[in-house]
Amino acid sequence: MKIDVIALFPEIIFPALQVGILSRAQDADVLTVNVHSLRDFTTDRHKSVDDYPYGGEAGMILKPEPLFRAVRTLNPQLTARVIYLTPQGTPFNQSIAEALSLESHLILICGRYKGIDERVREKLITDEISIGDYVLSGGEIPALVLIDAIGRVLPRALGDYESAQSDSFSQELLDCPHYTRPAEFEGMQIPEILLSGHHEKIDRWRYEQSLKRTFERRPDLLEKIELGDEERAYLNSLEKAEEA
Ligand code: ADE
Repeated sequence: MKIDVIALFPEIIFPALQVGILSRAQDADVLTVNVHSLRDFTTDRHKSVDDYPYGGEAGMILKPEPLFRAVRTLNPQLTARVIYLTPQGTPFNQSIAEALSLESHLILICGRYKGIDERVREKLITDEISIGDYVLSGGEIPALVLIDAIGRVLPRALGDYESAQSDSFSQELLDCPHYTRPAEFEGMQIPEILLSGHHEKIDRWRYEQSLKRTFERRPDLLEKIELGDEERAYLNSLEKAEEA
């Protein structure tokens, strides 16, 4: 998978690509990330990337010419998904990350100031994605959020693919609690079941803990998934316990 990022401040993005899973994915050639400065696609003496909005309002708008030149240079065959990061986009989630991880080429456009000229949206952009209902000062951090979420589900990136499969959200439930040594810390014991060596019972316990966490913290997620009779009975017992 190749990801090209077009940004006014590439230096925000570089350091995060040099550690952990993203660094390993690039070393293994599973992932290539190229971060481009929008200024490199200007042709005027002042390397101008922004200008005043027509009609008079506060703020500056990213000019169309450098963005058109950048996307046409990076996507000559028009085969890439061209994603604009904006609070107006589709809310990002794990299934979008997984779907995008199957693409071969993504171009991420990071906005700044008041946004981009609308004609860039109309002609170049195939998807708009938001990372949440708040406004950041630019699209660089949202682009990093996408690269990280996508990069870590690329099959060979993780080394421990199973670990990604059991994360919160990869099964539409929140993750269960985890413990490591020591078994007793400042008087706090780990749940006994984890020492039982009974793997089936441990898996069952983990699954119930995931259901419980999801029920307590994100009941909205439970409405979106299909539950079996056993799960439903367990959730009913949690609901009863809450009422008592
Ligand atoms: N740019 C500024 N804020 C953003 C957000 N919440 N999501 C995506 N891009 C953004």
